[in-house]
Amino acid sequence: MAKYIINGGKPLQGSLAVQGAKNSVLPLFAAALLTDEKVRIHNCPDLADVTNMGKILRSLGAEVERHGNTIEISGETLISYEIPCRLARELRSSIFLLGSVLGRMKRAKVAYPGGCDIGLRPINLHLKALSELNVRIVEKYGYIYCDATQMRGANLTLDYPSVGATENVMLLAALSEGVTTLSNAAREPEIVDLQNFLNKMGAKIDGAGTPFIKIEGVPKLSGVEYTTMPDRIVAGTYLIAGAICGGELTLTGANAEHLRSLISKLIKSGCKITSNDDNITIISEGRPKAFDNIETQPYPGFPTDLQAQMTALSAIAEGTTIITENIFETRFKYIPELIKMGAKIKVKDKHAVVEGIPRLKGAELAAMDLRGGASLVLAGLNARETTIINDVQHIERGYENFEINLTALGADILKV
Ligand code: EPZ
Repeated sequence: MAKYIINGGKPLQGSLAVQGAKNSVLPLFAAALLTDEKVRIHNCPDLADVTNMGKILRSLGAEVERHGNTIEISGETLISYEIPCRLARELRSSIFLLGSVLGRMKRAKVAYPGGCDIGLRPINLHLKALSELNVRIVEKYGYIYCDATQMRGANLTLDYPSVGATENVMLLAALSEGVTTLSNAAREPEIVDLQNFLNKMGAKIDGAGTPFIKIEGVPKLSGVEYTTMPDRIVAGTYLIAGAICGGELTLTGANAEHLRSLISKLIKSGCKITSNDDNITIISEGRPKAFDNIETQPYPGFPTDLQAQMTALSAIAEGTTIITENIFETRFKYIPELIKMGAKIKVKDKHAVVEGIPRLKGAELAAMDLRGGASLVLAGLNARETTIINDVQHIERGYENFEINLTALGADILKV
């Protein structure tokens, strides 16, 4: 397994183009199955999760080809409605394929995706919403069998604004009879990207980005060419790296509007941040200050996907910070690794109390999940001496060319 070797203490200088959003590309791949015409998606990051999603589409009969950062998908002849168990377990977010396979083929079979590094990841909200749309669901031998031949529009309310469940409803209802409304919908920017993509295919969806989405089913959807939004979590990760390392860093193709909750915390920590339509610049000098507390919430609250990275910043900030993780039940697994670097952190239930110290010290660590692994890299960029991070495949699921980009910005990081 590959590892990173980092010698910390270098400031970050320069500019970086932000990759396309992994958590938007994945549902857009699913949406591509709703038409038998060709779909071209630009700004697709070259990541394991994206590759695996392409493998699942191929197993259903679609043609998937990458040309640089563009992916071409042709779902002209789908040969199966069974989402393969092994791939579905590897990529649990493939659960929103349920909506698009049902929308196109009116039947679907998928294995229970199961939990992952950050939590149990139940799918009860997905199944409840689909059954309220009159999808017949049978669960046996660890598989879920769905029949949407009698599906009809309905007025739904999610018990929790689940991103994946919101996407599943949009994908199923777009190509089905009747009008569907969804209350308490997730408001993440990736939901807006999915609405824009589907509407460009001829769907009639309104309200994405608000808690109330209306989907008027249409008989057919056509091919589309579309550019994915920038990855707000990757952009946020680099901004936090800038706050930790000091220096001046500009992110191009980044949307500050998607990062308001993070930017306000970084300004409180003493960073200067300026932005225009698609650039964000951060200037950080001297030791950051503690930025009061963080409570992860559904968008537009503070994103759970930036929680670990902000813990790394608070570990070296002047003062004490309380980080509360409200979304996933086991998203503090990286903290014992930070403690090996001298971080002063106490965890109780869903709260981490962080007492900042001026500098961390290098250690040999292991990445255990995507965002927790990214936080270890950020901590290593600060630490004295050398930090070794093993199992970097977890990190590379979401960060394209991570060590190459950081090196270009002045960091001393090597992948071996
Ligand atoms: C999406 O996951 C993202 N993944 C996650 O990013 C992100 O952390 C999450 O949204 C929250 O923003 C993709 O978009 C591919 P949820 P998703 O359904 O859709 C509970 C990353 O690092 N829940 O909004 O799975 C669930 O257990 C990944 O890029 C149920 O209880 O998130 C969790 O506590 C990690 N029942 C909460 O809701 C359900 O049926 C949020 O889950 C579904 C979810």
